[in-house]
Amino acid sequence: MPYPILGHMNPLLQFSQVLATRGCKITFLITEFNQKRMKGEIEHLEEHMKFVTLPDGLDPEDDRSDQSKVILSLRRTMPSKLHKLIQDINALECDKKITCIVVSKNIGWALEVGHELGIKGALLWPASATSFASFQSIPKLIHEGIIDPQTGLPTRKQEIQLLPNSAMMDTAKLPWCSLGKNFFLHMVEDTQSLKLGEWWLCNTTCDLEPGALAMGPRLLPIGPLMQTNTNKSSFWREDPTCLNWLDQYPPQSVVYVSFGSLAVIDPNQFKELAIGLDLLNRPFLWVVRPSNDHNKVKNAYPNEFHGSKGKIISWAPQKKILNHPSIACFITHCGWNSIIEGVCGGIPFLCWPFFSDQFINKSYICDVWKVGMGLDKDENGLISKGEIRKKVDQLLGNEEIKVRSLKLKELMVDNSAEEGQSSKNLKKFINWAKD
Ligand code: UDX
Repeated sequence: MPYPILGHMNPLLQFSQVLATRGCKITFLITEFNQKRMKGEIEHLEEHMKFVTLPDGLDPEDDRSDQSKVILSLRRTMPSKLHKLIQDINALECDKKITCIVVSKNIGWALEVGHELGIKGALLWPASATSFASFQSIPKLIHEGIIDPQTGLPTRKQEIQLLPNSAMMDTAKLPWCSLGKNFFLHMVEDTQSLKLGEWWLCNTTCDLEPGALAMGPRLLPIGPLMQTNTNKSSFWREDPTCLNWLDQYPPQSVVYVSFGSLAVIDPNQFKELAIGLDLLNRPFLWVVRPSNDHNKVKNAYPNEFHGSKGKIISWAPQKKILNHPSIACFITHCGWNSIIEGVCGGIPFLCWPFFSDQFINKSYICDVWKVGMGLDKDENGLISKGEIRKKVDQLLGNEEIKVRSLKLKELMVDNSAEEGQSSKNLKKFINWAKD
């Protein structure tokens, strides 16, 4: 049961596919709104799992990009419905009774529902183990006076290291600081409920975040979640034409630009990026999600923009792209799923974080693994066209970063091998889940 945004649904979907291939029977819960939105995109998955739906409690025209609104609505309306749904399924099914619930974050109350019904539960954290550790540290940070208990904002400017061997963190960039007071208060509660999960699974590896994983044996790295039997592992309709387009280019020549499923770029920044991509004088593949009715921001391409070397698509088969030999680097918002996918492709990164955990993720890329560089804002708060061109040139000229990116990729492959640490952890979890 994922919280209903793509960054949570995708890893839960991949995890479910892995479990299904290992003999688990999967019931996957999505909201009615998402079922409608993904019409035509989930039917092919039904041979691996059964989809069930519940309403999210919002009206069809409500703005679902407002996460506080979604979180509150789910918490208000869904627990009793989930309780009934599980009871109904378990009364009807003989060999597909629900015996274990796996949730993502923001919906810890679902583990409480399972608990009431005597069903065991686990968490699949959809971001880094370090961000999980930061949420777990909230009581300690409050106790030590580092953050304000009501808002989660830092009491003063400082850098802290939450755990040994983990990246240093500017306290103003703690994952909840950019998301508002309501989100912070929700997460304090959610973190408590998530403790009901017997395992805290994470799409990461021991090599990527040894410091955070030292938090305790319940935090189990099972990444990279890349193995899948089906062609698709994302719920939205992908534009496959870009793969043929990529085929025409030599190895490591194309710049891939994508900011995940949530980040919104303001119009001035959008223009700067468009012109910056033209200035590269290299081929680029750019994902520009169509604006929806709730997007206050409508982006327009500037008149100077030619895009003659580029291809613009509305949604990409991202994993395939990041494994395509023509890709040279990835300009990314630093969402955790995108990072894991890029690391698995051995691709160097240019980091452009927007909010939440993306700042910590950037620190890992630039300061800990050293497989990328950051894009810096100018005095107007914009990442300028000149900065984009300069950093792409620097990154592509940096052989050490390329070598480290390929080494990191190898570590990912080792973890997924039969005897790899993540595979062993996965087996441990499956034995527990089936028990
Ligand atoms: C959210 C948060 O923003 C992020 O900070 C957190 O770490 C995870 O949840 P999102 O912003 O969508 O996710 O980013 P990300 O985690 O990178 O997930 C995006 C997913 O969409 C990836 O699995 C990626 O492969 C997929 N994607 C993205 C596509 O399939 N096609 C695209 O064109 C772009």
